This record gives sequence, structure tokens and C-alpha cells, in this order.
Amino acid sequence: MTAPLIDPFARAITYLRVSVTDRCDFRCVYCMSENMTFLPKKELLTLEELDRMCSTFIGLGVEKLRITGGEPLVRKGIMTFFQAMTRHLESGALRELTLTTNGSQLEKFADDLYAAGVRRVNISLDTLDEAKFADITRWGRLPQVLRGIDAAQRAGLRVKINAVALKGFNEDELPAITRWCAERDMDLTWIEVMPMGDIGNENRLGQYWSLDDVREAYAKDYTVTDLAERTGGPARYVRLEETGQKIGFITPLTHNFCESCNRVRLTCTGELFMCLGQEDNADLRAPLRENPDTEAPLRDAIRAAISRKPKGHDFDYSRQRTDGQMSRHMSHTGG
Ligand code: GTP
Ligand code: 5AD
Ligand code: SF4
Repeated sequence: MTAPLIDPFARAITYLRVSVTDRCDFRCVYCMSENMTFLPKKELLTLEELDRMCSTFIGLGVEKLRITGGEPLVRKGIMTFFQAMTRHLESGALRELTLTTNGSQLEKFADDLYAAGVRRVNISLDTLDEAKFADITRWGRLPQVLRGIDAAQRAGLRVKINAVALKGFNEDELPAITRWCAERDMDLTWIEVMPMGDIGNENRLGQYWSLDDVREAYAKDYTVTDLAERTGGPARYVRLEETGQKIGFITPLTHNFCESCNRVRLTCTGELFMCLGQEDNADLRAPLRENPDTEAPLRDAIRAAISRKPKGHDFDYSRQRTDGQMSRHMSHTGG
């Protein structure tokens, strides 16, 4: 058995997030600019390369794979990749295969995903209002996503809704979104908007709605209890006593969760980012492509990268500054 991946701060790296495409059929204003230029296809890891890459990480102790994008389900042939990963679930090496999606393609793919061994999906949805949805995604159609969510639940997938908390945008929908998730037995997590990418003139400081304030908003209508549980991920949880609902808060800006970080991120071009909030990355595509017959150089490159994983990220909104801003787009590193 090979030694597991342990970083310099004694954190075991068991979770790989893989962005399989930088493309998306939406252009959420906090994620992409309207006229994003996408990578030429030849820059992307092929589906076979993605398989080799993920399999090598699994061989090094990664137990959880989350497929992201862009929108992962717009990558051509992606279901072949999911089906290829099933073997690692069957062998017991992989404990969870999952994805984060905007839901637009789920009507088509939900059953296949379940058949490949996926049991949970995270779906991004910031509003239940059709016009606002078209606005925030620039042209997305809400009914299509709602049909995708229904299809996912019918297929037996557990659904978590991710909503980015945006002041003046979905503030007023907090009770409605919360009730809607409860009625459908879906988990709900609020995310603080993060300063990623140069997205034109959207005023992200103006949109920033602290999750401490979201918690306060809940406290007006519910008895809110903080839960101690941490699931190894970035979310903290509260319970709404009246409904028993558990609500997650992802708060990179007001409450840092770096000390328990268990993850790294692979981009669709094969760069490994050791932290979402840092620019340092390692090129894994070269050792992969240059050595088609042996995994050893790739394994060495992965270990070298993990030994550089930083203690934490550099985001900073606290003094209303944007110099903590990352020039990378979220779609590049996959959230
Ligand atoms: P799990 O994989 O179950 O932990 O779910 P998750 O909530 O981490 O995954 P998801 O893809 O739904 O992520 C939701 C949001 O959390 C994304 O928008 C990410 O930007 C953010 N996020 C996830 N991991 C990290 C992290 O390590 N650091 C920071 N700053 N944000 C993260
Ligand atoms: N800040 C916070 N969340 C973001 N996402 C995309 N861009 C940002 C940002 N700048 C979220 C999406 C989705 C997840 C993958 O990332 O809404 O839920
Ligand atoms: Fe696409 Fe998700 Fe980015 Fe929206 S947040 S543009 S759905 S990748």
C-alpha cells in the first residue's frame, strides 16, 4: 500500500475536485463575464487522461471525487468518464463519486449518473423567480433546471441546493427558498460570494451579504441552533428547530475553515491547485502526457505538489478591500 497524501500541516488529502470543462451553458454574473473566452479543446485533458489522473489520485488514497466545471454535464462524452469511475466504487477504493452542477442537463443524465454509482448531487440555484434566474445566469431557464431537479430526485439522487447569498438579490427569498427545500427534502447551503475573477463592472462588494447576517435573518422566523458537526467540508451547519431542517453555511470570508481542509483541485487542463484561494499550482499534465506507460512520475509530481499546500487562503473582504481578489475565474478551478 502506498503512503497516503499528507500535507505539511498534517492534513490528509482524501478529496479531489476535478473540473472537467471550463465551459458552461450559463454565465452567472459572479462566476463568468458575458463574453468569456473558453480554452481551445486541445488544451483539455482527454477523457482517458482524466481517468488516468483520477485513478492515480485514488491509488494515493483519494476517497472522494467531486466532478465540477464550468458545467460538468456539458462536456462531451462525460458519462463515459463517470461510468469508468464506477470500477473504483466497486473495488471500495472510492467512497464517493459526486458532482456539482447547474442542473440544466439533469433531466437527460440523472438516471445514468445513478447507474454509474452517483448518489448525491449539489445543484446551484440562487432564486426561484424565473425573471431573476434569467438575470443572474444571464439567460438560463428556470423551468429546465426545476425539471432537472425533479429528475434527479426521481432517479434516487440526494439533492443539495447551493445558493449564493446576494444582497438585494435573493435576500427577500430566504424564507421561500428554505420552505421549498424543506418541502422537497433537499439540503440547503448558503455560500458567501467570493472575490474570484475579473468579471467587469458587477459590484461584488455591494452584493456581498455576510452569512452572519443570513443567520440573523433566519433568527427572525426560526429558533436557530448551531451544530458542532463538521463533515470535513467547508460548511458549518445550523438547525431550524421549527422544521428540523439543517442549513449549511459556506463562509470563506467571515469564518475560515482552512485548518480542516482535506481537498485539492484539478483544472480541466491538468493543473493542480492546492488551495482555491491561492495562485500556486502544479502542472500535472506534462508528467501524465510524457509518461504514457508509467504512473511513477505523475505520482511524484502529485506528492511534490501536496508538500506545497499552503496553510490557508488569502481572501479578504473585511476592510472592504478587493486586493484579496483572485484573477482566476471560479469556472477555472471548479469552485
Ligand atoms: P462537499 O463536497 O460535500 O463538501 O460539498 P461542497 O459544499 O464543498 O461542494 P460544492 O461543490 O457544493 O461547493 C459549494 C461551494 O463551496 C463552492 O462554491 C465552492 O466555491 C465552495 N468551496 C468548496 N470547497 C471550498 C474550499 O476548500 N475553500 C473555499 N474557500 N471554498 C470552497
Ligand atoms: N462566489 C461564491 N460562489 C460562487 N460560485 C461560482 N462563483 C462564485 C463566487 N464568485 C458557486 C456557484 C456554485 C458553485 C460551484 O460555485 O454558485 O454553487
Ligand atoms: Fe455556470 Fe455554475 Fe458558473 Fe453559473 S456558477 S456560470 S452555472 S459554472
